[in-house]
Amino acid sequence: MSAKKETLGKTVGVVVAVCLVCSIIVSGAAVGLRDLQQTNAAIDKQSNIVEAAGLSELAGNNIAETFNKYVEERFIDLETGQYVEEPKEGYDMYKAAKNPEYAVKVTGSNVGFQQRASIASVYIVKNDAGEVTRLVLPVHGSGLWDLMYGFLAIDADGNTIRELVYYQQKETPGLGGEVLNPSWKAKWDGKKLFNDGAVAIQVKKGDNANNQFAVDALSGATLTSNGVQNTLTYWVGENGYGPYLKNQTWKS
Ligand SMILES: Cc1cc2nc3c(=O)[nH]c(=O)nc-3n(C[C@H](O)[C@H](O)[C@H](O)COP(=O)(O)O)c2cc1C
Repeated sequence: MSAKKETLGKTVGVVVAVCLVCSIIVSGAAVGLRDLQQTNAAIDKQSNIVEAAGLSELAGNNIAETFNKYVEERFIDLETGQYVEEPKEGYDMYKAAKNPEYAVKVTGSNVGFQQRASIASVYIVKNDAGEVTRLVLPVHGSGLWDLMYGFLAIDADGNTIRELVYYQQKETPGLGGEVLNPSWKAKWDGKKLFNDGAVAIQVKKGDNANNQFAVDALSGATLTSNGVQNTLTYWVGENGYGPYLKNQTWKS
């Protein structure tokens, strides 16, 4: 029997060949699955908006159908609060925040980002009679570990909160991650954003069941709770959706 000759050249050759094949498979899968990933991301986004819209039960598995029937995406100039045309097809306010064409500097806030887009998406929810029942507003701001992204749903009075749905966050499960806990989420229902026109909503320690302007902070997660507070203070304030909510643009 002849002994196998193992040379360094052969070993390196095999390693390179295996790496090449693996990288072709991985990059092929990444390219091939891109469309599917984008579709899934779109469905996930719609599903969170449908939840914030209070339509999850009605939707069942027909998320896209329910979204298309009851929810309309509009675009607003945050400074004026007025509706504008979609700036470009597939406009994404989070991507636009990094684009000099749309980026606006954020100053004097603890919200946790330095730039936001000048034009934001809002989601108008209508019933079968065509009446506006809710507004779903994208919000984001820093938690303890990273930015947290969610949707704030309010009634057509522009003041009464219905839902705060976080869909992307990296807080610690059991601590800040409790932003996803249904019993904490339920505490937002019926709370008010504004008192005499000023932002009044607070996330504070203790039992706030009888305070229409406050929601209990998460226990053991003051830093995440502060993040939620800063996020809402910014987004419903003058530099966020404040002008839109004051003008009640959806009624015109
Ligand atoms: C491993 C680890 C993970 C933590 N994760 C969070 C978190 O996600 N959110 C948060 O607010 N605090 C988190 N904390 C706790 C904070 O450091 C801080 O103690 C807490 O926010 C204080 O909240 P309290 O005043 O309700 O006790 C974490 C602490 C440790 C050690």
